[in-house]
Amino acid sequence: MPATAETTHDVVVLGGGSGGYACALRAAELGLTVALVEKDLLGGTCLHRGCIPTKALLHAAEVADAAREASRFGVRATLDGIDLPGVTAYREGVVSRLHKGLQGLVKSRKVEYVEGEGRLEDGRTVVVGDRRLVGRHVVLATGSFARTLPGLEIGGRVMTSDQALGLDEVPGRVVVLGGGVIGVEFASVMRSFGSEVTVVEALPRLVAAEDPSCSTALERAFRKRGITVRTGARFESASQAGGVVTVTLEGGESLEADLLLVAVGRGPSTSGLGFEEAGVTLERGFVVTDERCRTSVEGVWAVGDIVPGLQLAHRGFAQGIFVAESIAGLSPVPVVDAEIPRVTYCEPEVASVGLTEEQARSAHGDAVETYEYNLGGNGKSQILQTQGFVKLVRVKEGPVVGVHMVGSRIGEQVGEAQLVVGWEAHPEDVASLVHAHPTQNEALGEAHMALAGKPLHAHN
Ligand code: NAI
Repeated sequence: MPATAETTHDVVVLGGGSGGYACALRAAELGLTVALVEKDLLGGTCLHRGCIPTKALLHAAEVADAAREASRFGVRATLDGIDLPGVTAYREGVVSRLHKGLQGLVKSRKVEYVEGEGRLEDGRTVVVGDRRLVGRHVVLATGSFARTLPGLEIGGRVMTSDQALGLDEVPGRVVVLGGGVIGVEFASVMRSFGSEVTVVEALPRLVAAEDPSCSTALERAFRKRGITVRTGARFESASQAGGVVTVTLEGGESLEADLLLVAVGRGPSTSGLGFEEAGVTLERGFVVTDERCRTSVEGVWAVGDIVPGLQLAHRGFAQGIFVAESIAGLSPVPVVDAEIPRVTYCEPEVASVGLTEEQARSAHGDAVETYEYNLGGNGKSQILQTQGFVKLVRVKEGPVVGVHMVGSRIGEQVGEAQLVVGWEAHPEDVASLVHAHPTQNEALGEAHMALAGKPLHAHN
């Protein structure tokens, strides 16, 4: 079909997920004219298939655990079962409210929302159906998709997180392939919902991007919860028959399951969209950018999961805002992956920011000091009956460069950890700040006090 209608905007954003819509909203706020192109739903993976719906599932899982373990707290309750359609209704209610709110924001900021699949035609033009959207600047924000492995076809009882969200019954036995972020979050939900769960991970530990102390604590907690953890185990093949999936590992061992959840990473959605033809350099499918999110084509920017680095919604938001401000002629500070907080919302949660101990030692040699504060000394954590720790990594006589935490609900503490690392605070600076009692936040305060040489509720 010949493309006919041509409109010009200051900014044309391709993709309405976290990175794209944040860029569109901020650009509009700064007085630029903006078109935002989305082929599916405004809000993208994060809102519709990722962060929000999966965290709603994890909250339902926490409620199930609370009911199951009520007697530990002297409360008489029983868990009769999981009504997955009921969980779905709750989850969809959360998503739909946020989706409506976001649509309202886009409308009120006068962003032109264009529905349809866009294709980059040259460094200035995005074609959507019969429309040509010409931008002074074009921002690529097309996101990512759930990967699978060669020879492992998604279908039937072999699912990625996309299909698993639509389950209407709790499967009896689940094998989770991949012990990264998605793998451990789904393993956690399914276990809380009553499934027998086995996590198969090729690397020697779960959540391998985290400090090894977090992996160890998580594996211990998972084993205690009855989740089977198979690290150092490589997937070889899978077959389906009679509603059962048989998963074969390298070495020949096989596992049977009612569901195989594939969580082996997410790939960049960049093929077939005209990027390379327009001169945008890709590497292994990712868009190559400099630290200011500029691609190889002048006036074309890229944000979010298509840019190599952490695939996190909040990184996408930050990059989107950064690009909008750059286009508007402001001088924003580039988004640095090392300062971005990370939270894995399994039970117990894992949260971190900055360098792991190993990374700090390779950057600073012997001039590194660490301290692990056990949540055993933290009143609120005892009230919640959770175990875990706050581990600090500092440069000797210098700032805290990494914070690593494990424990129920500990993700909520990552905000302060981020300020500490981002502002290069010394433990002594934080130790003099008063932390509210009894909160889990106190554990951060106590860890800094201990590292500053004045431990209070610390046994080591
Ligand atoms: P991931 O990269 O975190 O983990 C994939 C895991 O699969 C790795 O540990 C890898 O070693 C393992 N694996 C790969 N091939 C294998 C094989 N043949 N046999 C056994 N294990 C194998 O990717 P994941 O969990 O799919 O998540 C994708 C992205 O989404 C991540 O970048 C993550 O940061 C993001 N995400 C973030 C969340 C959060 O911030 N809470 C929640 C969900 C996703």
